[in-house]
Amino acid sequence: AGAEKINTDIITLTRFLTEEQAKHKEATGDFTLLCHALQFAFKSISYYIRRATLINLTGLAGETNATGDDQKKLDVIGNDLFISAMKSCARVRVLVSEEEEEAIIFDEHPQARYAVACDPIDGSSNLDAGVSVGTIFAIYKLPEGARGTKEDLLKPGSEMVASGFTMYGASAQLVITMKDGAVNGFTLDNSFGEFILSHPNMRIPKTRAIYSVNEGNSMYWDEPVKEYINSLKYPAEGKPYSARYIGSMVADAYRTLLYGGIFAYPADKKSPKGKLRILYECAPMAMVFENAGGLAVDSHMRRMLDVVPEHIHDRSGIFLGSEGEVQKVIDAHKKYV
Ligand code: AHG
Ligand code: MN
Ligand code: MN
Ligand code: MN
Repeated sequence: AGAEKINTDIITLTRFLTEEQAKHKEATGDFTLLCHALQFAFKSISYYIRRATLINLTGLAGETNATGDDQKKLDVIGNDLFISAMKSCARVRVLVSEEEEEAIIFDEHPQARYAVACDPIDGSSNLDAGVSVGTIFAIYKLPEGARGTKEDLLKPGSEMVASGFTMYGASAQLVITMKDGAVNGFTLDNSFGEFILSHPNMRIPKTRAIYSVNEGNSMYWDEPVKEYINSLKYPAEGKPYSARYIGSMVADAYRTLLYGGIFAYPADKKSPKGKLRILYECAPMAMVFENAGGLAVDSHMRRMLDVVPEHIHDRSGIFLGSEGEVQKVIDAHKKYV
């Protein structure tokens, strides 16, 4: 009787991608190949993160990136692994990475039809403490006749064809969504070396009394944000919200996706444009949340996926999470316009 409980019809990411491709008659297989390369980047980054303290990969690399962050050794290695995967799959024409000042143009692949943005290691300040970090990705399809420049990425997030992230936590969790599609979650089985579909069709709960924000910034917040967060902590009736803040967007967002609630990194007096970067943090995460039934807005209460970056490393304030929770933020801002 015990044998009946073992699932022998396992959906690996490889199988999932093959089945997705079969649903699209016009598909050439290029997108599938690109995803296979992504999957290898996640596996290899996961491997090095898990071995970091054993092979002298903790600590700083000694350089600063384009957005002013001190690079950790693993930021650099994660970036190199990601670039190499994207280059070798020969399906990517343009790549933007947090760790590269300029967009990388793969002139050796002039026929490649995709542009990718990535945050190779998100939450890298948490690395040496062994706290969960992640990799975020956004995929755009080049329009017919595109020249293959960074302009191919300076578009609203609504034009992405796919996005997602992998969280390197107690296990590696990959979350991926495609345009107008469902959100699917996979768990890396280290003995198979395969991502296995463990969370099909993820839907974020409509409401949940959890907020996630760096409250150390509260003295810099604008009035609507202060008033909104206060309303969660000192409700007119009922219990106050629980606070959860890891400090890795991927980990805070993954928990929010599963449990519901709200994650916020608002623009404030210290960071008037916000801290998180549009192309490889805000937009891909917003697509995941919208496709899971949630919402994502910027500090002007605009739909995050409508925001168009001017430069590849542009930042934005962001509020994302359960529909009912993000609606409360929007309502709290209405009084001030
Ligand atoms: P990264 O490690 O890719 O530079 O991103 C850091 C980001 C994000 O992961 C997190 O949500 C946020 O920075 C945390 O910022 P604070 O330390 O200011 O709270
Ligand atoms: Mn960084
Ligand atoms: Mn990040
Ligand atoms: Mn990063």
